[in-house]
Amino acid sequence: MSFKNQSATSEYSLEFDPSNYTETAVTVNSKTVIYRAYEGIVYVKYPVDTTYQIMNIYVPVEYYEEGQSIGNYNASIDMSGDPNGALLALSKGYVVAAPGARGRTTQADNSLYTGKAPACIVDLKAAVRYLRYNKNLIPGDTEKIVSCGTSAGGAASSLIAATGNNKDYEPYLKVIGAANERDDVFAAQCYCPITNLDHADIAYEWLFNGINEYNGSTMTDNQITISSQLKSLFPAYVNSLGLVKGTELTLDADGDGTFKDYVKSFLIMSAQKALDDNTDLSALTWITITDGTVTDIDFSEYAGYATRLKAAPAFDGLDLSHAENGLFGSVTINAKHFTQFGMENSTVDSFLADEHIVKMLNPMNYIGAQETDTARYWRIRHGAVDRDTALAIPVILATKLDNEGFNVDFAIPWGQGHGGDYDLDELFTWIDNVCTPQPGNH
Ligand code: DHB
Repeated sequence: MSFKNQSATSEYSLEFDPSNYTETAVTVNSKTVIYRAYEGIVYVKYPVDTTYQIMNIYVPVEYYEEGQSIGNYNASIDMSGDPNGALLALSKGYVVAAPGARGRTTQADNSLYTGKAPACIVDLKAAVRYLRYNKNLIPGDTEKIVSCGTSAGGAASSLIAATGNNKDYEPYLKVIGAANERDDVFAAQCYCPITNLDHADIAYEWLFNGINEYNGSTMTDNQITISSQLKSLFPAYVNSLGLVKGTELTLDADGDGTFKDYVKSFLIMSAQKALDDNTDLSALTWITITDGTVTDIDFSEYAGYATRLKAAPAFDGLDLSHAENGLFGSVTINAKHFTQFGMENSTVDSFLADEHIVKMLNPMNYIGAQETDTARYWRIRHGAVDRDTALAIPVILATKLDNEGFNVDFAIPWGQGHGGDYDLDELFTWIDNVCTPQPGNH
């Protein structure tokens, strides 16, 4: 579809058209699922980019009275490989909405950048608003929206779930003609969220300082020095958060303390579960096992076992070459720094991203904030050998949520690297559980 000739004054309708669908069948885990596929729906009145500001909505036919259908089906979603969350959701009778969003590489015909921050989160909010605006035309319960995503998508899921209805995003939503509706969601699944970007470099070096090999290369002397500088900045950040779990979670100047013990406790739980599942951990001498119980791990040995993926700084590249630099560009500038450290140590002509925009991309700033409707239920997973961001990042996210009174299911699956959708049975048990009102749940 192309709407390039659309005149500047015309607008797209926010009204969902229930008759514009293709009936489709897929087989998931030997079960044939028939559903209506509504695809390519522009979800704002004034789209900047109709390739990305569109949503696909899939509705199991059971929701429609005409019931079972017949005929030829047109399989429009990828059925190859392992079952994914969207297909399994359909097979379990969920309505699935898959929104696109502008991103860091999106450009207009005139080459101007159209998807720099905060465009991605603004678009996802607009998609949620569209669903609410059309709640009487689309089956499903818009008070039970569950956001799901992996990696950058896990970060997006955490951001939409943290920031519901916060006014910071309102001017951006107005510009694109988003529906005048609420944009909070009920629950969020976040697989390995690459989030809290403005503190991800210091968290990464707190974990990986001393490990100088990364992804087949060796850090330069300068990168090794930078690693130590970044590591030294992490305790002040952790201590500023005021996190509590039984005791205050803090770090001393060397990066040791109760916060570190708390991060370790999740690894110990993970190793214990692996052990209980008959995983042979005997070769991992940094894990202390006494009579079938994991009692301790050596944290620095763990980092060596997980291995470093990225050189320092891992996110705010000093030459602006990282994907995250591109996220924080502007209409005319491809990439910027988003930390003071990156700016001060920059090796290229550069700008520092607007503080307010950096704020809007970090869920930590909104969890439990005033006039914000943060999702009540969260499920966060980060693999024990996932080094795309430091383990401390999801721990901080989960703990902040917990401390602000939200319901968090957080774990570090043993042996799991960077990825998602690897525990779909457990995920759907969780979703079914939080979506079904029960005593103590609401
Ligand atoms: C993703 C992975 C990264 O390591 C990163 O820095 C940003 C995004 C991803 O897989 O989406």
